[in-house]
Amino acid sequence: MGHGGNVIDELVTDHREVEELFGKIEALPPGHKDRKVYADQATIELVRHSVAEEAYLYPAVREHLPNGDALADQELEDHATAEQTMKDLEGCDAGDAEFDRLIGSLMAEIREHIADEEQNLFPQLRAACSPEQLDELGDKVRQAKKTAPTRPHPSAPDKPPRTSCSPRAPAWSTGSATR
Ligand SMILES: [Fe+2]
Repeated sequence: MGHGGNVIDELVTDHREVEELFGKIEALPPGHKDRKVYADQATIELVRHSVAEEAYLYPAVREHLPNGDALADQELEDHATAEQTMKDLEGCDAGDAEFDRLIGSLMAEIREHIADEEQNLFPQLRAACSPEQLDELGDKVRQAKKTAPTRPHPSAPDKPPRTSCSPRAPAWSTGSATR
């Protein structure tokens, strides 16, 4: 979970871990039960990663980059989209057709996030911050990941579920439905 190095090293290592899990999912045939296992692992890593980025990376982006507010707002919007996809995915089994659609969406969303940060945002941050500032942010991000939740909590919980797999959704996402 915690890797080492400055904030960019730390977050890039997270990206590589998630890409590795996506590769494992893609290497298995549709319906294979381990696709769900790897999707759950990717969700845990991604929720931690997002929480840490939102707590420390994007505030630093706002502070240090001239177009930081616009960049940070776009990243937050992308996080909200991916988090909703992960929540929908959580209610699906590997054998559901909806699982294949949702995991495809999630991989596309996250690969876009990764490319955007690594090609655009991180180079700008590296140029704008001192090595000491980047190291300090790395420590804060590692700390945030230790206490972050591991399940998706989309920012718009009142939206109806987009998935047909909702009967298997866990109780936290549907309220106390049983009596
Ligand atoms: Fe990221």
